[in-house]
Amino acid sequence: MKLLFKNIKELIQIRNNEVSFVSGEEMKILPTLKNAFLLVENGLIVDFGLMKDCPKADKNETIDATGKMLLPSWCDSHTHIVYAGNRESEFVDRINGLSYQEIAENGGGILNSAKKLQNTSEEDLYNQSKLRLEEIIQLGTGAVEIKSGYGLTEKAELKMLKVIKRLKKNYPLPIKATFLGAHAVPEEFKNDKNGYLEVLINNIIPKVAEENLADFIDVFCEKGYFSVDDTTRILETGKKYGLQGKIHVNQFNAIGGIQTGVKHNALSVDHLEIMKDDDIEDLKNTKTMPVALPSCSYFLGIPYTPARKMIAAGLPLALATDYNPGSTPSGNMNFVISTACIKMKMTPEEAINAATINGAYAMNLSNKVGSITKGKLANLILTKPINSYGFIPYSFGNHQIEKVFLRGEEIKK
Ligand code: NIG
Ligand code: FE
Repeated sequence: MKLLFKNIKELIQIRNNEVSFVSGEEMKILPTLKNAFLLVENGLIVDFGLMKDCPKADKNETIDATGKMLLPSWCDSHTHIVYAGNRESEFVDRINGLSYQEIAENGGGILNSAKKLQNTSEEDLYNQSKLRLEEIIQLGTGAVEIKSGYGLTEKAELKMLKVIKRLKKNYPLPIKATFLGAHAVPEEFKNDKNGYLEVLINNIIPKVAEENLADFIDVFCEKGYFSVDDTTRILETGKKYGLQGKIHVNQFNAIGGIQTGVKHNALSVDHLEIMKDDDIEDLKNTKTMPVALPSCSYFLGIPYTPARKMIAAGLPLALATDYNPGSTPSGNMNFVISTACIKMKMTPEEAINAATINGAYAMNLSNKVGSITKGKLANLILTKPINSYGFIPYSFGNHQIEKVFLRGEEIKK
């Protein structure tokens, strides 16, 4: 059960296990070893170092990585990959001039996906969703968070979370489940948002907790969706049931969601396309990870998270896909990293840190994934022969992955 990688041109993101995320200036540093080996045993990284110290091949399976790089798998800390059907007609509506908000107001958007999902069987939903999970694994993702939030009834939300539970059981990568019942106000509660909140707080959240179906809790804190007060109520209820917050904030408007997230000890605040100076200030010296979703900005044509400003203020930043049928029908972390470099002016070092170690933190998986560290899972990307790791974001729209490994096993195409 041993696997030895030898002659690795560059082993990327080596850390000791004291580092759980990197912030500010530290994000510019990506520790690597040139001409290295890495040894895997029983699915874990057990040793790595310079080739001159490489253990004998023994009976180990050996991979000669001459000319290639080895790095930890991408950690995608924000996705909605369990959904039913697609919304390409809304995509065409946007091309023809409607805005994302106008489409939602006309019965499209999240409510459109909820209708589809409510009418899809659990089996069908599982089969549609697993294809997306397999797709992102091939693209180098080795740990992922998946949200509910396209059900919006007790039955349909539980169906989504059960699908996530089955994916957790059947696939070898760490998966975290987030309950996002407060994603949109369902049609039946159109004029009674409070009524829906009562259902969430009194019925659905207790049920989700009782059946142990979620690791985290989320809210879409946005004008026309859920207010800061609503967000506070959901976060407080989540806390009561042991569910830490990971919330959608500042996508279209900065209304104070970051402050309530920080106050309630959210693990992450995600989107952040619109940031006020106070939002940046209030994230300083907290344990809340800011998460940017550049593929969403790209697809919707909305502003990008001001990464330079945030990193200059000393903040950490994680990058994730937001893979979902409405705002980001793409789960490609390689594209996310390129886009972060091109549009947000992050350096390759910052983008790779944001997509690995900081992403792991944003899923509470720092002890398992996100870096080349002894004792962590051997969830790895072996690149094609490349000249430098800068080639990974540089070759945008493409990827440089030759093979992916989960728990030291190669995942065949
Ligand atoms: O993260 N902003 C809220 N939720 C999703 C998109 C939902 C949808 O359009 O289906 C997001 O972008
Ligand atoms: Fe999202």
